[in-house]
Amino acid sequence: MKFVKILPLSALLLMFLMGTLSIGFGCGKDDEDTSSSDPACSLSNPDLSYAKNMKTLIDAKCVSCHGGNGPGPGDYSTYAGLKTVINNGKLRDVVVIKKSMPEDASEMTQAQRDSINCWAKNGYTE
Ligand code: HEC
Repeated sequence: MKFVKILPLSALLLMFLMGTLSIGFGCGKDDEDTSSSDPACSLSNPDLSYAKNMKTLIDAKCVSCHGGNGPGPGDYSTYAGLKTVINNGKLRDVVVIKKSMPEDASEMTQAQRDSINCWAKNGYTE
């Protein structure tokens, strides 16, 4: 008699546990994708454009590797050369979100990363 009562209960418990588990995994993945660090532009005067300020920064920090025949893909020495990683979001992703570029992370200050973020938020003005 007891057994008959417990069986449906444990089945329920099992379903509940499996549900919680899969929801748990789902959340973990979402956190990674949406990223807790999707910073807004924090500069008070975000008057940025490729020609005015970004070219100098990118030439100094990226073009040694991304200059056409370095180890990095692409040629970032012109706006046209940057278009691919602007359009597919990788430029902002590696510099602002993942901070995996420049390869030596200490090569770029947080303020410089912020300026790239603001430039991105401005629509990468040419
Ligand atoms: C010391 C060399 C070096 C420097 C400096 C460097 N990169 Fe890279 N970068 C690489 C290499 C090598 C790869 C390819 C392997 C990888 O993705 O890690 C790469 C990959 C990338 C990618 C992915 C490209 C793709 O098409 O998938 C982007 C975007 C990028 N770098 C942006 C930058 C930016 C922006 C800077 C400057 C702020 C920079 N990198 C500085 C070496 C460098």
